[in-house]
Amino acid sequence: EGNTYFLLIHGKFLRSESGKTITGQTPFDGTPTYTIQAATKEEIDRAYESAAQAQREWRRVPLWKRAEVVHKAATILREHVDEIATVILREVGKNRKSAVSEVLRTADLCDYTAEEGLRMEGQLLVGDSYPGQPRNKLCLVQRVPLGVVLAQGPFNYPCNLTGSKVAPALMAGNSCVVKGPTQGAVSALYLTAAFHFAGAPPGVVNFVSGRGSEIGDYLVQHPLCNCISFTGGNIGLEVAKKAHMIPMQMELGGKDAAIVCDDADLDLAAKCIVSGAFSYSGQRCTAVKLVLAVESIAEELISKVVERTRALTVGHPEDNCEVTAVINKAAADYAESLAMDAKEKGAKFLLEYRREANLIYPLVVDHVNESMKLAWEEPFAPVLPIMRVKDEKAAVAFANRLRYGLQGCVFTRDVNRAISLSSSITAGTIQVNGAPARGPDHFLFLGHKDSGINAQGAKWSIEAMTKLKSIVINLP
Ligand code: G3P
Repeated sequence: EGNTYFLLIHGKFLRSESGKTITGQTPFDGTPTYTIQAATKEEIDRAYESAAQAQREWRRVPLWKRAEVVHKAATILREHVDEIATVILREVGKNRKSAVSEVLRTADLCDYTAEEGLRMEGQLLVGDSYPGQPRNKLCLVQRVPLGVVLAQGPFNYPCNLTGSKVAPALMAGNSCVVKGPTQGAVSALYLTAAFHFAGAPPGVVNFVSGRGSEIGDYLVQHPLCNCISFTGGNIGLEVAKKAHMIPMQMELGGKDAAIVCDDADLDLAAKCIVSGAFSYSGQRCTAVKLVLAVESIAEELISKVVERTRALTVGHPEDNCEVTAVINKAAADYAESLAMDAKEKGAKFLLEYRREANLIYPLVVDHVNESMKLAWEEPFAPVLPIMRVKDEKAAVAFANRLRYGLQGCVFTRDVNRAISLSSSITAGTIQVNGAPARGPDHFLFLGHKDSGINAQGAKWSIEAMTKLKSIVINLP
């Protein structure tokens, strides 16, 4: 209704009985965006009950029919790409080109996941392959759904990172309770609605919204929740402690380091570092959040990085600027505090520090050392720290002291060096001569250390949302 958006419970769009709503603001000029519902605990109960009931039927729906729904959702997303991109742009300040690509990427992900779901395989074990066992035992191993999946995505990909949870959940025979990020909720609701209008039966996809501080614990500790698929920041560490003993798929923070060796193609490294650090204003888990430059090439690399950073466009998302305002004032204040802490402790700003409300101009900070918070924490903003290191061994040693282990990247022309360094870094993925990135979305994506639990990527997400079960046949 107008700019007001509802909950989706058991196939019905509803106002919350709480009578409470939350109105968002654009990150870039603070104008009101959309009004969402603050769901009550009773409404969360109803969403879970509906999901649990619907899942008992949905798990029996033939795979090819589930795939039809997921493909249809992809079609709906493509048909509404401009409308959804506008919502993403306004809610989270992503530039138009990237917002469009987020929606199309989600549609592709749905199509691929639907196909991958059809290929879920089991296994047949025969008893007599084990010493002393007779031939008459057969063990049928199959994947079965978990039940109700809580799909909780972050603000930075409110459509895509919700879709990357809902599509595999449905293919695996689960139902979903989707909790949208407060800023980004309407984008997540559009995504959920695509599955609803694609023909998911009532209760298979439900949507609730509200402040995480008010309903977050209730959602993750709900007795009908059988799996948590969560992407977000450090709050995920708390979620993991609070949740009951249920499977989790979590992608949390990252501090992806770019290690640049003395034999690297420095133009390529600078290009990847700048795009990796500053696209969507650094608000990506996989952004380059630290450069570890070997002394002998540091000067040359840094001048190339600065030159490319100067060329970035800064401004309004509607103008397709590469750097736009960060999500809110608290985020901008935090990034600023990291930059200032580094400066006070002796780091050097290589570009003038400029901030207009939530818009932070891209900043490259040189001579960062381990006494500074910027060496350890993620700014989630267009602030790029550079640390000069004696050699690549020192670079790896520092990268491995970080609490995060999402991705990392290594720039070298020597394949042996690339493999050896990649093997030594503790992270889910190491990119050789490329910036960290989750996609393409059928690739394995996961965090080690505090960066996550379990893996993503179409095939692995389906696996994370199923459990193994065996039936042993004892032949006469
Ligand atoms: O921050 C979310 C994370 O999944 C990054 O995705 O595609 O920007 O590498 P991407």
